[in-house]
Amino acid sequence: MDIFKIQGPVKLSGSIRVNGSKNAALPIMAAALLAPGETILESVPQLSDIGVLCELIENIGCKVSRDEQRRLHIDATNIDNPFGDYEIVRRMRAGICILGPLLARCGRVEVSMPGGCAIGDRPVDIHVRGLKALGAQIHLKNGYIVAEAPSGGLIGTEVFLGGPFGSTVLGTANILMAATLAKGKTVIESAACEPEIADLANFLNKMGAKIGGIGSPRLTIEGVKQLKAAEHEVIADRIEAGTFMAAAAITRSKLKIDNCNLDHLMAAVDRLRNIGVQVEKYNGGCEVAAFGELRTADITTQPHPGFPTDLQAQFMALLSLANGNSVIIEKIFPDRFMHVAELNRMAANLRKEGPAVIVAGVDRLIAAPVMASDLRASAALVLAAMAAEGTTIINRVYHIDRGYERIEQRLNPVGAKIVRESVPGA
Ligand code: EPU
Repeated sequence: MDIFKIQGPVKLSGSIRVNGSKNAALPIMAAALLAPGETILESVPQLSDIGVLCELIENIGCKVSRDEQRRLHIDATNIDNPFGDYEIVRRMRAGICILGPLLARCGRVEVSMPGGCAIGDRPVDIHVRGLKALGAQIHLKNGYIVAEAPSGGLIGTEVFLGGPFGSTVLGTANILMAATLAKGKTVIESAACEPEIADLANFLNKMGAKIGGIGSPRLTIEGVKQLKAAEHEVIADRIEAGTFMAAAAITRSKLKIDNCNLDHLMAAVDRLRNIGVQVEKYNGGCEVAAFGELRTADITTQPHPGFPTDLQAQFMALLSLANGNSVIIEKIFPDRFMHVAELNRMAANLRKEGPAVIVAGVDRLIAAPVMASDLRASAALVLAAMAAEGTTIINRVYHIDRGYERIEQRLNPVGAKIVRESVPGA
């Protein structure tokens, strides 16, 4: 297994390019299953999570390949096995997003119920509720969700998709995809407004779907008889961009971040400016500069356009070096705090109080051996390590590889000192 050895503290400079969004690419790849023919997707990052979904898609009978320009081709002409195998879905929860499209296209699907993960229970009850509202019969069999459409196909309806923690991103994706082929009109209330859902909806419209209200919490879908394969470029990854912004800030550096849409990151930019970090927009990207003292800031994670839970850990690392106390409240995944204990091993001063963490700023972080526990927690450790004194060793780097493509090869050219080593049994 790979480990990172990260030497700090470093200064970053120059420019770094943000890749296509993992969380936009995953449901868009699933949407390709709605139509026979070959979909071609640009800017799909080469990540292990993308690889897992490719495996799942190949397993149901479709063909997946990459061309020389790294474009992803999905030929969904044949689907002979509408089945989401536990052995694949358990490795990545987003596998659940094949449920809606396969139900709509094939009329029947079995997908393994995803288990919990390091960031919480992560139920799928709202996905099931939404598909039932479209007329599906659903039951659970040996850990699999078995869904069947009525004989004449799914039926358009009005459905409220809010849950105890607000909207659901992949739940919205599933119902939206299923509704494109339903008879009549569907209205999704309390739909997720995340840019990744807007990107999915735009892709579906290219396939011939009729979706209105894109980017709002009320999506309207006029069902169509069939869709066609399409070409699409996936949006830039706002979470990767936000991670690089936090990297510039925590190392008190000036960094250009190319291929980043600040409109998708307003809440994070607002917090950065509060902390005393300069963020300037330029065509296609932004420049982040942090010099001198970092001020405190309170953060509450919320569905978009609120502060994203996927940047909570990285901003906690950043605020651990601020001048005073900050409070971070997690309202999406109240248990998503695996990084707290690891950051404390690096001399941060963090105290968890239920779904909140009190971050008492310290003057310096000190290198330590730490454990990556989930994707964003691992990114927070990389940031902390770049600011800490000494050489930090991060174990279980495969968590980072799920969402950041070769992060060391991208941060090292701008000044990071990250070495990847393969260590048996690490
Ligand atoms: N929820 C329910 N019932 C459901 C679905 C969700 O109660 O049926 C709850 C969840 O437990 C959570 C909240 O609703 O408390 C929001 O969860 P959501 O469904 O929006 O999460 P998701 O769609 O499973 C996606 C991203 C996550 C990101 C969340 C929140 C993908 C592949 N995953 O997950 O990304 O944290 O939205 O924005 O898009 C990551 O990239 O590191 C990551 C975890």
